[in-house]
Amino acid sequence: MAIFISILVGYLLGSISFSYVFGKRLKKVDIRQHGSGNAGATNTLRVLGVGPAIAVLLLDALKGIVAVLLGFYLAGEGLAPALAGLAAIVGHNWPVFLRFKGGKGVATTIGVLATLVFWPALLAGIIGILSIVITRFVSLGSLLFLLLTTLITILFRDHFMYPIEYAYLLIIVTILSFWRHRANITRLVKGNESKIGQKVKQ
Ligand code: G3P
Repeated sequence: MAIFISILVGYLLGSISFSYVFGKRLKKVDIRQHGSGNAGATNTLRVLGVGPAIAVLLLDALKGIVAVLLGFYLAGEGLAPALAGLAAIVGHNWPVFLRFKGGKGVATTIGVLATLVFWPALLAGIIGILSIVITRFVSLGSLLFLLLTTLITILFRDHFMYPIEYAYLLIIVTILSFWRHRANITRLVKGNESKIGQKVKQ
């Protein structure tokens, strides 16, 4: 029952799309019809500016944090927080309130991973941010963050004493994120991915 509640609440929390809410409130636009069409912090930066983008990043991350903490609270370490976090990411990507058209889940994933596997996420986050500063590709930094958090967690799982469920979750979330970023990956390979501060290339 605790696991079921964690998943349900995690999914509903994840389904609250802050970029959509801010778009509607601040500019009366559907963020999904503008920029890259993605309901996330990066596209909020393009469409609404720096302040709303930071707010969306933090609030979307908070969804992941709260979902995982609820899982911990209801059932302790292991499966419940991992599934609650996954449910929040799935909710962000396919929100029930927006006809299942959401974002790519990066900010929510950051919240989930920072709560579940703090040190690997911190190290990978520093490298991801550095790569964004150097290349100005947010998508590349996001994917690097995911990949490195997963690798570090799996390699040092015994050291950190993380439950095996976290390693499985990370593998699933990484595959999910690469799939959600497939158009970004194609653009990165072709050399026409939009950089921070640039107009989006479709
Ligand atoms: O947060 C998602 C980011 O990695 C890419 O977003 O809008 O450039 O597709 P976007």
